[in-house]
Amino acid sequence: MRRATITGWGKCLPPAVLTNADLERVMDTTDDWITSRSGIKERRISHVEASDLATVAAKRALAAAGLEPDAIQLLLVCTCSPDRLIPSAASFVHAKLGVVNAAAMDLNAACTGFIYGLSLAGAMISSGTIDRAVVVGVEKLSAFMNFEERSTAVLFGDGAGAVVLEPAEGDDGILAVDLGTDGNLAELLTVTHTGTEYGRSYPYEEPAILMEGREVFRNAVVQMGASASNVVAESGLELDDVDILIPHQANVRIIDATAKRMKLPPEKVYINIASYGNTSAATIPIALTEALEDGRIRPGANVVMVAFGGGLTWGAAALRWGSRIEPVAVSDAALAPTDMTALEILEARPRRTEP
Ligand code: UT7
Repeated sequence: MRRATITGWGKCLPPAVLTNADLERVMDTTDDWITSRSGIKERRISHVEASDLATVAAKRALAAAGLEPDAIQLLLVCTCSPDRLIPSAASFVHAKLGVVNAAAMDLNAACTGFIYGLSLAGAMISSGTIDRAVVVGVEKLSAFMNFEERSTAVLFGDGAGAVVLEPAEGDDGILAVDLGTDGNLAELLTVTHTGTEYGRSYPYEEPAILMEGREVFRNAVVQMGASASNVVAESGLELDDVDILIPHQANVRIIDATAKRMKLPPEKVYINIASYGNTSAATIPIALTEALEDGRIRPGANVVMVAFGGGLTWGAAALRWGSRIEPVAVSDAALAPTDMTALEILEARPRRTEP
């Protein structure tokens, strides 16, 4: 059976930076609390839609793979913050990217979305159904950021990352995947007053991200450690063979605990949560792109990606990198510029007024 592998990668972070000091000005929190509990120092706030972030990341990934948009047969946009419910964010990205020969759809597995997307697209390539796919992880969770909910408002940020998948040559490519869900724990992490529940509350309530932080934390440590270890075993690798772990960036303490369970030394773990916070489905493709840019992934490296999130969902993928760690070409795609600060963007969000 042929394997799928990553041949292109790219990211898109909106320019407006929201620091912990900015948050101290608008809610009852401190830089010290946020840093010590989560490891986050700042995050990005998007002045454009999720599909715009996704398009720029995907254009950069296509250039890195040296492919034209018409070569793509599947576009998966992994997100829980699409521009609208219909059409999918993927439809908007389809048009902006010009992937005229691709089927396009969204995939919502919250923070685990990218691992689910990588697994599905990889399986379609392995089965011979398609040859080339773009998988994007993108979020604009600032749309649901509610200053009244300080326990979640400080954690999330906006951004996108994308990869191109093609059939592997030689023995590189996706070696194994491990996916799981526990729907009984669904209410532990939720965005309220969205979907068909939107506007049904009386008095009207704004959407908000609600999380039972400690319970989610406990489950995350257990499932991320188990899923990453499973995928290593299924790949026929030893834990020592893992060259780099690219974990979901939700909390530096969860990442440290996962690495400890896998007995991985800190230099084998990629962490960038301080700069972007939790960008949900986008954390792994952003971190993967930065790990390549930083020279942390070498030809032939054994890469393990692992995520955990709302659902509750979890998943991991093990991949042997190919010989090319440089992009074939660099795209000049960019977002429309903005002069607005992150707080100005947040304060300018439209709000419904009663009734
Ligand atoms: O990506 C999807 C998966 N997400 C995760 O995996 C996140 C998992 N959970 C976590 O990362 C952590 O639980 C948090 C970072 C969310 C919270 O850390 P914690 O150590 O579990 O804190 P806590 O929720 O138990 O809250 C401790 C205290 C509370 O005060 P009391 O009741 O002890 O007096 C909170 O009211 O911290 C208070 N608190 C805050 N204080 C200052 C909650 N949010 C804030 C805040 N600033 N922003």
